[in-house]
Amino acid sequence: MTVTLITGANKGLGYETARQLLELGHEVYVGARDAERGEKAAAELGARFVQLDVTDEESVRRALATVDAAEGRLDVLIHNAGVLETALDGPAALRSFTTNAVGVVLVTEAALPLLRRSANPTVVTVSSSMGSFWAVTNPDRPESGFPLALYAASKAAATMLTVQYAKAQPGIRFNAVEPGATATDMTAAFGIGRPVQESARVVVRLGHPRPRRPDRDAPGRGRDPALVSAPGRPAGWCARVRPGRRA
Ligand SMILES: NC(=O)c1ccc[n+]([C@@H]2O[C@H](COP(=O)([O-])OP(=O)(O)OC[C@H]3O[C@@H](n4cnc5c(N)ncnc54)[C@H](OP(=O)(O)O)[C@@H]3O)[C@@H](O)[C@H]2O)c1
Repeated sequence: MTVTLITGANKGLGYETARQLLELGHEVYVGARDAERGEKAAAELGARFVQLDVTDEESVRRALATVDAAEGRLDVLIHNAGVLETALDGPAALRSFTTNAVGVVLVTEAALPLLRRSANPTVVTVSSSMGSFWAVTNPDRPESGFPLALYAASKAAATMLTVQYAKAQPGIRFNAVEPGATATDMTAAFGIGRPVQESARVVVRLGHPRPRRPDRDAPGRGRDPALVSAPGRPAGWCARVRPGRRA
């Protein structure tokens, strides 16, 4: 069974991603910073719960130790936890970068030993096209109209971290993805977004990987390094660094 950990899975996209991956037969660990909310979500879903605050190194260490003790490995890690701050000041900057970017590093570093024990290790970062330099400077794109400096900058960092991890860890498939504008608590103030079921399918497509094939996945080839920057693609796309291959 595929062992999957999703951060920030007590609601929104993370919750729905957990639900869809459970349907596909994954053993899902719902990571949530709040134990009550996380336990409730996991119970509803029929998943397991781990307390996991992506900004707290000790919490991250404990969560991965729990998965290690129960499973001995991790097959799929989904960096989904995120915050969107509309203010532009120091405290908001610290919250944005600590959660959206530093959290990716803390959780990835703690998960690497477990991922290396998987036959088909996969990491998906739920990033954002708000972190795309191309999109936010293109007047034809909606991203150019949102003054969300800290969200955009921290998601650009999350995407770049994913690309750099893909380069540094060739045995692990890393992808960053824009799931599409989605109606969740995060976007409620903007009144935008499509149903969460639709956007979670984008994440699930990358989090439910194909089995490795020697011809496609030989060292240095077919490792599906990640990128979230594909000019002209509609919301919900993802693209890879290596040309000619799609998710
Ligand atoms: N909605 C969109 O249109 C959209 C578009 C592109 C990308 N995304 C990305 O998709 C991801 C999910 O967003 P969403 O729309 O589902 O938003 P959401 O409903 O607000 O969910 C965010 C989740 O992240 C959790 N979280 C926040 N800080 C955390 C921390 N320090 N440690 C652990 N969990 C933490 C929240 O937990 P609490 O309940 O405890 O706050 C919640 O479970 C985010 O990374 C977001 O940037 C969303």
